[in-house]
Amino acid sequence: MCGIIGYVGNKEAKQILINGLLRLEYRGYDSAGIATVSPDNVLNIVKNKGRIKDLMENKNIDSLKGTVGIGHTRWATHGIPSETNSHPHVDQDKLFTVVHNGIIENYALLKDMLIKAGYNFYSQTDTEVVPNLINYNLKKEKDQSLESVLHAIKVTCDELEGSYALEILSPLIPNYLIVTRRNSPLIIGSGHGENYVSSDIPAILSYTNNFYLLDNNEYAVITNNSVEFYNESLTKIEKEVRNIAWDMSAAEKEGFDDYMLKEIFEQPKSIRETIGSRLLNGKTNLPDFEISEEKLKEINKIYIIACGTAMHAGLACKRLYEHLLGIETVVEVASEFRYKDPLVDDKTLCIFVSQSGETADTIAALRLAKENGATTIAITNVISSSITREADYTLYTHAGPEIAVASTKAYTAQIILLTILAINLSETLHMNLVLGTQLKQELVEIPSKVEKILSNIEPIKNFASEVYKETDSFFIGRLEDYAAALEGSLKLKEISYIHSEAYPAGELKHGPIALIEDNVTIIGLITNPLTAPKTLSNVEEVLTRGAKALVITNQIVDQSKFDLVYTIPEISEYLSPVLSVIPLQLFAYYISKEKGLDVDKPRNLAKSVTVE
Ligand code: F6R
Repeated sequence: MCGIIGYVGNKEAKQILINGLLRLEYRGYDSAGIATVSPDNVLNIVKNKGRIKDLMENKNIDSLKGTVGIGHTRWATHGIPSETNSHPHVDQDKLFTVVHNGIIENYALLKDMLIKAGYNFYSQTDTEVVPNLINYNLKKEKDQSLESVLHAIKVTCDELEGSYALEILSPLIPNYLIVTRRNSPLIIGSGHGENYVSSDIPAILSYTNNFYLLDNNEYAVITNNSVEFYNESLTKIEKEVRNIAWDMSAAEKEGFDDYMLKEIFEQPKSIRETIGSRLLNGKTNLPDFEISEEKLKEINKIYIIACGTAMHAGLACKRLYEHLLGIETVVEVASEFRYKDPLVDDKTLCIFVSQSGETADTIAALRLAKENGATTIAITNVISSSITREADYTLYTHAGPEIAVASTKAYTAQIILLTILAINLSETLHMNLVLGTQLKQELVEIPSKVEKILSNIEPIKNFASEVYKETDSFFIGRLEDYAAALEGSLKLKEISYIHSEAYPAGELKHGPIALIEDNVTIIGLITNPLTAPKTLSNVEEVLTRGAKALVITNQIVDQSKFDLVYTIPEISEYLSPVLSVIPLQLFAYYISKEKGLDVDKPRNLAKSVTVE
């Protein structure tokens, strides 16, 4: 959701900014733009509605001269997608140009004040108040030096409410880029004689592995060979550069048609790496998480809080937590949790799951849990992401960069890590060790089982080509199969735009079955021997009403009754979603391909939802 890129160095900024924007495309956007300041101090801005490709073909693109610049992909929040509303934005005197990710909540009040002070506005965006307010505040400074500009920016930020990652470029200080953030992501890449700014690491990974992380309300003043940091009150502070070991090939397509397919196929590796050394000598090993037996014994409730796919990973693990630990475990959507006045106190353990670590609702829920005294654990894929800076403990899924908007390898890695955490807690409590031991054995075997599924994709591909024109689909299952059904249904709707719902199989009769007719596909998940006969007969019921059926199972099923029975390896019910989701991911992928859609960048969706 909105991507930011910046460059100060010794090369032409334009191409580097375009490359960065192309890498940020996956976040979702509807318009894009770049600003540079030329060696003779001329500010140039080129922006348009549409794709980066349109920007590259923009008739003014060659006007972007200079070795310092900023770029932006916009995902409209205030004001329709249009050239006027695209970033970068400027103040009325063209002294400051700004790109912004986030939402300025009090922009209407500020705009009103500025209009009364004689300022003119051209866009409907919240962002446009920022350069104008800096301009307004600079007039109160003694001069237009770097120090005064920085102070005017600080005073401006003090007046802003909401969230922002901001890059500010000005012909008044042509060799400098000033950046700041509050609750929106922004990192600084450090090179030799050049420095970079970005919303995320993969966008600039081809240039550097060394990054500075900016905390909330901090400022960085960047030139080609220096990065200076200031805290909220503009006192100079030191920051350590961090080396991030991801390599560029991990963020490239490597011969796959799309990132999503590549990421689906990476799952044996991402699962192996997430397990890593966390299973050692028959025990779990979580050096980053140490909670005493006494503290754990006081815990009487566990929350798993997340959004979207990450929340589905939580649902897949709910029963496991309850059965292993004997503690009530509630899985909550973060955007609900934060407003529902939840029953959370110092006896509550709250686990926050987020691939990006930047989801606004999940972070807000984390803050609420902390305020109420809960012990908090973040499970995330992105090193040093916002969530890691606020949680008491952080555990990383080592899935590698996930570029496709539709989450795949992060989901399976999240279930693996949630499972290891549950076993670890049960070891600390000396509870249900037999089940824990069985699961540890199963975890080790999972990557090769996933490989087995990935070596048999043709049946799914063929079934997708048979049903891609259908208009509705229903995913059904019981218990963990229902959790996997929710995820399969989300995958299908987000990348194929086919209406899709997931139901606990027993619920079908209580209403939804009225919708079953010829153009409906039903996907039944059947991996639990206890509930298998029930769910099978639920699928048969809909078959008799004209639907086409795909059954994903590891049970013995009469193949002749269904359009496709896809068999997955045996696995414990608690871990079954890790396997059953793979054919569902592939099903969604191939339907989307059959429909000729953009699999990696589905319409209206952003990779990380950094606003409410
Ligand atoms: C779906 C998807 C989203 C995310 C959700 C949370 O494929 O990717 O539903 O799971 O936006 O994002 P994170 O995990 O980054 O907090």
